[in-house]
Amino acid sequence: MELGFGGEVADLYHRYRRGYPSGLIDACIDAFSLKGDDSVIDLGCGTGQLATPIAPHVRAVIGVDPEPDMLARARSAAQDQGVTNVAWMVGSDSDLPLLRSLLAEQSVGAVTIGQALHWMDHEALFAAIGPILRPGGGVMVVANGIPLWLQDSDWSRALRAWLSDWLGPGPTNSCGTDNTTQQRYRQSLTANGFEVSKVELDYADELDFDHLLGGVYSALPVDRLPSAEERPQIAAELREVLHPYRPYIEQVPVRALLGTKVA
Ligand SMILES: C[S@@+](CC[C@H](N)C(=O)[O-])C[C@H]1O[C@@H](n2cnc3c(N)ncnc32)[C@H](O)[C@@H]1O
Repeated sequence: MELGFGGEVADLYHRYRRGYPSGLIDACIDAFSLKGDDSVIDLGCGTGQLATPIAPHVRAVIGVDPEPDMLARARSAAQDQGVTNVAWMVGSDSDLPLLRSLLAEQSVGAVTIGQALHWMDHEALFAAIGPILRPGGGVMVVANGIPLWLQDSDWSRALRAWLSDWLGPGPTNSCGTDNTTQQRYRQSLTANGFEVSKVELDYADELDFDHLLGGVYSALPVDRLPSAEERPQIAAELREVLHPYRPYIEQVPVRALLGTKVA
């Protein structure tokens, strides 16, 4: 299946998507007592939003993603920050059992999944993760805010209407950030023997128009991106539609489920 995260989308994602607040990385380290001799697997690592900030706290991270362009961008961004202990590997959630045999049972401090579980078979994945974790280790599932077109604000409603004129009905997918999905993940973690706690970090930030448009482009499959010739016209049109609703304040509720392996 073509996921649409390749080509220019990898750059857009890296440039315009938010990383995570440092409090989230601290919560992960505390919850699973991650130390300098631990290793971590970040599944659906994208351009390294979780893998790169976790890496300085542990011995090594394996960042796994099916999209080579995301991994290439992740690698160069990590190198720019002097982070060299991440192995960026092409793969997917279904490779976890193989990683398990490569790494040995009980060898990993944490498996993290940021904004990517909705692409995976979470039931099979949670069942496979337990044996690879060392005692006290765990799995962290993170949802990073609400898509720009689903916010509860006038600018977001105007964006939503404009997007549905441009691309057709929707998009309505909340990428696993909604309460119902979070509840489902929580139940599944519990059923697979994890003790679950929740971390909630809320903040708001003002977007300039370029970041708003870049954020929208970063969420489009690469084959839906407008051509370079079309972009000035699209930007001018959207700028005019949204202008009455400035400032563009984005609410960013970060939600993490932390499942600790019950011994
Ligand atoms: C929205 S991005 C999230 C990137 C990053 N983890 C973050 O928190 O911002 C979703 C990523 O999941 C990857 N992905 C999609 N299906 C996957 C699968 N079955 N297993 C692992 N990663 C997958 C995509 O290639 C993409 O890089």
